[in-house]
Amino acid sequence: MSKLSGKVAIVTGGASGIGNTIVTRLINAGIKVAVADLNEQKLKELEEQHKGNLIGCVTNVTVEKDIEQLVQKTVDTFGGLDYAFNVAGASRSGLIIEQSEEDWDFTVDLILKGVFLSVKHQARYMKDHGGGAIVNVASLNAHVPMFYGAAYSSAKAGVEMLTKNAALELAQYNIRVNAILPGLVSTPLTKGLTDNKEVVNAYKERIPMRRPADPDEMAGPALFLVSDDASYVNGTGLVVDGAWEVSGYPDLSKFI
Ligand SMILES: NC(=O)c1ccc[n+]([C@@H]2O[C@H](COP(=O)([O-])OP(=O)(O)OC[C@H]3O[C@@H](n4cnc5c(N)ncnc54)[C@H](O)[C@@H]3O)[C@@H](O)[C@H]2O)c1
Repeated sequence: MSKLSGKVAIVTGGASGIGNTIVTRLINAGIKVAVADLNEQKLKELEEQHKGNLIGCVTNVTVEKDIEQLVQKTVDTFGGLDYAFNVAGASRSGLIIEQSEEDWDFTVDLILKGVFLSVKHQARYMKDHGGGAIVNVASLNAHVPMFYGAAYSSAKAGVEMLTKNAALELAQYNIRVNAILPGLVSTPLTKGLTDNKEVVNAYKERIPMRRPADPDEMAGPALFLVSDDASYVNGTGLVVDGAWEVSGYPDLSKFI
């Protein structure tokens, strides 16, 4: 990966799962990292592990003041901000006819407003300092609905569109904004699903690669999108799903 070394990055949701694998890859590539997460204990452990190269910032991505402080602390500590990975996410599931307003608001605020506030303040800094690159983590659910997931899927579709809007507005400042859309990834978020054999089998029927992804399989595409190798990639959503999205048609290979 070209010219990443010596840069500074923010990773929201970097204490676990996909965000954490992005953090590891960034550190290994010689990048200083500010990890923003609610998990204070894990942030302390990461700071200890990567002394001098990583700071942990207790941050709630749905709170604008927290994001402003995150960007400020990153710049104060490492002298700039080149890349941002907006990964933090979780959801409260429910059928539309049953879901409470509170659970809807929790999910949409975290998934969509969290990315809006993050991009807003990351880009404000980048705009006045030569530009940068941002990757938002959406989901295959931006394209494919799921039972019990109306709030999550709708918000993830919003993240993909927000990414396009951001690319449109920010290209003039040399800021690129892209998204990745993961399929099923084995992380603490999906443990309830991936620990259940019947559920995993139901997923495997849909996923031509017949397995969930390892979280590190999201980190490579995410780092590619901020790298100079992707210098003309802007406003796109990269689906990283083991060919799940293209498997909607009946499997006619059984009849040939
Ligand atoms: N795992 C999957 O199959 C999958 C698929 C598609 C998309 N995604 C998306 O990828 C992202 C990461 O998911 P993951 O599977 O690694 O989950 P994870 O639960 O392992 O990690 C999510 C991290 O976000 C943090 N977080 C939650 N709420 C926060 C808040 N308000 N402010 C700051 N940090 C907060 C958590 O503390 C945690 O460290 C999410 O946006 C998720 O929707 C995951």
